[in-house]
Amino acid sequence: MFSNTIHSAEDARRIAKRRLPWMVFDYIDGSAGAEKGAARNRAALDNATLSPRILRDVSQRSLSKSVFGKLAQRPFGIAPMGMCNLAAPGADLMLARLAAKYDIPHCVSTVASTPLEEIIEVAEGNAWFQLYFSGSGEGTFKLVERAKAAGYETLILTVDVPEVGRRPRELRHGFKMPFKIGVSQFIDFALHPRWSLSTLSAGKPDMANFKMEGFEFDRTESRAKATWETLDKLRQVWRGNLVVKGVLDVEDALQLKAHGVDAIQVSSHGARQLDSAPSPFKMISHMRTALGPEFPLFYDSGLRSGEDVLKAIEAGADYTFFGRILQFAIAAGGETGLEQLWDVLSDETSIAMAQIGINRLSENPKAPYV
Ligand SMILES: Cc1cc2nc3c(=O)[nH]c(=O)nc-3n(C[C@H](O)[C@H](O)[C@H](O)COP(=O)(O)O)c2cc1C
Repeated sequence: MFSNTIHSAEDARRIAKRRLPWMVFDYIDGSAGAEKGAARNRAALDNATLSPRILRDVSQRSLSKSVFGKLAQRPFGIAPMGMCNLAAPGADLMLARLAAKYDIPHCVSTVASTPLEEIIEVAEGNAWFQLYFSGSGEGTFKLVERAKAAGYETLILTVDVPEVGRRPRELRHGFKMPFKIGVSQFIDFALHPRWSLSTLSAGKPDMANFKMEGFEFDRTESRAKATWETLDKLRQVWRGNLVVKGVLDVEDALQLKAHGVDAIQVSSHGARQLDSAPSPFKMISHMRTALGPEFPLFYDSGLRSGEDVLKAIEAGADYTFFGRILQFAIAAGGETGLEQLWDVLSDETSIAMAQIGINRLSENPKAPYV
């Protein structure tokens, strides 16, 4: 008999798998195609090692790291994820409270299940807005104005979804937003009453940013029309920090730098887009070499532990983000589950720092430790 306490990211996933309807679990857990991309990146992370060092006083360890000039209390933040309230009612705001408590960035998805204005308030300003270009782009730029008005200072443009990737596990269950409850979904929900009763009684989660008059979004609508001119237009209207997320090609990264973006986020969208993409973890060091030591480089995809975070930093990332495991923790144990996993990730990072002989994470990617 397994307990319900979370001691690792895999614990969170295992408990979440039991509690969530299959449709929701597979929406969160699934990757593109045959899921080889996810496996390739996992193998790359597993094959990377950290060197244990000895007899250095490591009693004064700090997990803080600055990002865009602000001191975050952890070297990892929350990746943007759509429809988090499918994990449990109120999930978006649990993440926002976590961000407020640790001064870490909570990246708020275009397709979040809570309005962007509410999230930044609860996150006490520790929120970045993630933008999807969509359709003709008219709605996209309206959303930028709205984020600015709500007080967002950092915008993340996600560029790796020209079309939504084919994720067979999600497609098999007929996952759609807003979701339709047919016979198979009804059976699925009936077999997971704990989730169904709480989620459906709280009201079906929806894409909250599009409930306001004048804002519409179709999750499956083509995002294929975005070009470098779109980026330039965005750069002109957005004076705050501009991050471009979903970059896996060095030439693209250099071009982004030339177009004046403030940071690049290496990511494979958690292996949800192109199954045959290179391991994003392996791309970090190539990007760092090409972009030089000063350029802000962020990373997400496949991180499952504090040791993974240190590996990404050692490879050249300035800052990292966790994705689906945070939703699994919420599905497994609500806000308590999220806090448990957060403590696990923090402890793993701190203990691994002691093992590799460091007290602090520096701001210099060429010498990531102090
Ligand atoms: C359920 C789910 C929804 C996501 N929604 C978005 C989104 O709306 N916008 C975005 O830029 N990335 C989205 N992502 C990708 C994440 O931001 C991030 O790149 C990825 O989850 C990191 O990989 P990991 O889950 O293995 O940590 C989503 C990921 C998941 C699992």
